[in-house]
Amino acid sequence: MKKDYLFICAVLMVSATFGQDISQKTAQKTQKSVKIEQKVDSVLSLMTLEEKVGQMVQYNGSWDVTGPATGADNQQRLERLKNGLVGSMLNVLSVNATREAQRINMENSRIKIPLIFGYDVIHGYKTIFPVPLGESASWDLDLMKRTAQVAAHETAAAGVNWTFAPMMDVSRDARWGRIMEGAGEDPFLNSKIAVARIEGFQGDDLSAANTIAACAKHFAGYGFAEAGRDYNTVNVGVYELKNTILPPFKAAADAGVATFMNSFNEIDGVPATANAYLQRDILKDKWGYDGFVVSDWGSIAELIPHGVAKDKEEAAYLAVEAGSDMDMEGGAYEKSLEKLVKSGKVDEKLVDDAVRRILRVKFRLGLFDDPYKYCDEEVEKSEMYSQANQQVALEAAQKSIVLLKNQDKLLPFSASAKNIAVIGPLANDKDSPLGNWRAQATANSAVSVLEGIKDRAPKGTKITYTEGAKLSTGKRAFLDPMTFNEQNTSGFKEAVSIAKAADVVVLVVGEDAFQTGEGRSQTDLGFAGVQDALINAVTAANSNVVLVLMNGRPMDLSAHNEQVKGIVESWFLGSQHGSAVADVLFGNYNPSGKLPVSFPRNVGQEPLYYNQKSTGRPEGGAQVTWSHYEDLRRDALYPFGFGLSYSDFEYADINLDKDSFAQGEKITASVEVKNTGSVAGDEVVQLYLRDLVGSITRPIKELKGFKKIHLEAGETKTVSFTIDEKLISFFTKNKIWEAEPGDFKVFIGGNSVDVQESQFQYN
Ligand code: BGC
Repeated sequence: MKKDYLFICAVLMVSATFGQDISQKTAQKTQKSVKIEQKVDSVLSLMTLEEKVGQMVQYNGSWDVTGPATGADNQQRLERLKNGLVGSMLNVLSVNATREAQRINMENSRIKIPLIFGYDVIHGYKTIFPVPLGESASWDLDLMKRTAQVAAHETAAAGVNWTFAPMMDVSRDARWGRIMEGAGEDPFLNSKIAVARIEGFQGDDLSAANTIAACAKHFAGYGFAEAGRDYNTVNVGVYELKNTILPPFKAAADAGVATFMNSFNEIDGVPATANAYLQRDILKDKWGYDGFVVSDWGSIAELIPHGVAKDKEEAAYLAVEAGSDMDMEGGAYEKSLEKLVKSGKVDEKLVDDAVRRILRVKFRLGLFDDPYKYCDEEVEKSEMYSQANQQVALEAAQKSIVLLKNQDKLLPFSASAKNIAVIGPLANDKDSPLGNWRAQATANSAVSVLEGIKDRAPKGTKITYTEGAKLSTGKRAFLDPMTFNEQNTSGFKEAVSIAKAADVVVLVVGEDAFQTGEGRSQTDLGFAGVQDALINAVTAANSNVVLVLMNGRPMDLSAHNEQVKGIVESWFLGSQHGSAVADVLFGNYNPSGKLPVSFPRNVGQEPLYYNQKSTGRPEGGAQVTWSHYEDLRRDALYPFGFGLSYSDFEYADINLDKDSFAQGEKITASVEVKNTGSVAGDEVVQLYLRDLVGSITRPIKELKGFKKIHLEAGETKTVSFTIDEKLISFFTKNKIWEAEPGDFKVFIGGNSVDVQESQFQYN
């Protein structure tokens, strides 16, 4: 108590020196958290062991609109809820449903601790934004903060106060289906985007009724699943872990993310859920993280098939020892934790620590003040899918589009494009643009590409449409994967005929919405079904073809790259997909997206990422014995950071204000960027560094900064980046984060390959 008082006084004194506003806020925050700690202790002291364990249990809803679903299992769960033996529920949605679950808990339980309701709000709740990988292509942090904010508003309006997002797994293998859920292959970009999304979800005040708790997932290493096969083994060394995988999580912890989720995979023999090194040593001790860690779905019980626990009791033991605080649908804590404590095998202090963390988050959300604060039908009605939210969805969709190819400046369509053929299995699809993890989106609610084109095309334009081929037999969420391997080519004739008659063709192909996402790994990055043959037929009929791609992972485009004049990467853009694509096709929006992942030349190059190591036999070896493939170039077809615009940007030489710097100093690297094109546009100016000699091997290029700028036609701007010790630090051979003296290359450009280059020294 005394200590707390002294700490507050110290904070208040510091306030007087450094600007009233900021310090007043800090002092208020400190005061608030001291109070929360006192309340947490007081609630904990009233709890029985059974109730404590109950807080560590999370149930899947099994909830009908207004009450629990029937069935023996659910009856049992309902009893536990009444007895205050459930800490959280997931997938209970709507004001009605969450209010009822909360009521049952609050009115019947002895201890009356509010439930926290979780849900996967990955790219929107009702209004759907681009899938996270697509949205990351915007490189627009403010935008991503705003889309997360809108998602939070809609989620909170549905009575839910916790999202299992953002996913910040650095992912480097396009075969991995979950690559669509993250920000791609780079740790720096992932860190920045994770923080933006957390700030959007949580706002300035977690206790406000329109903000929700975020969750940093999956801790850790999930994106490194061997061969891109979901849930597969991960083998990374400590340097890779520290320098590549953990930075986004550290950034999330520093940004105050309310919760963490662990992951399904093992790392070097130890499943993440049973990994004390990750969860206790690094997260809770070293980083001082005081929120809680929820397991991934059933991942505690999965310690049994992992082969490190013989039964649920042993699984519970391993998980709680390792710092997994809440058991999502694993049934292990519920079954065994109390017994483990009573038998003396698990120290009750570990349970207390977990419960303290869970209560802390519930207090931070303001649930103890009002467990029903998220339950307001009026807000639910007005907030959901509002016009304003659709506007943000349109902006996000426009900014996420990446123009990969634009031969002969076919795009944007000129006035001579009077007859446009729209072809392809995804062209009039109103459902696929919603992507996987679409939360509560209404099926078929997106604007299709065809609808967008019809709406945006200049008056008098003739638009013809045919599907050409089917991609799948329908929504394949849980179908046999072979059912999407369509073989029917009977629609080709019509496709060829309208293509022949048209001035330009928009050919919309790619992946089904459920071809990426959890469990959707593939060995093939090409076009499923008869799409290859369709592309061949249509490009033979008309030489002005623009491919509009819909997909959640990098695809192998090499077979068609030369056949078409234009390639528009549109991912799954969400509710406003078709409008955004049409805006790009007709030039209402000048594309500015840049790839957050490398697009390979074929699947055999995977895992492919720009920030690779040099190896002892780097690129350029004269003979055969250097690190390459004999049958293919080793670089990407479209590299990380790449994306065209209707403007042309010219980069001048890099200007460094000095050529060396020492500890405590910094260097400024500047470059002039000119828009030499005839229309205004946005460019993402990217800074990369290379540490030429390190105590451990270093990547050949690492993204270390980016700025998105707007340039009018003919305009020039100077873009500057500050390079300091922190920016060049890494986890070194000394096993600490530090900057090592030596020579560095600095690169600035519009993608990771086409860059200006200079050099500096750090002494
Ligand atoms: C996924 C998580 C998700 C959870 C709850 C798991 O299968 O791996 O990312 O949050 O389910 O739906």
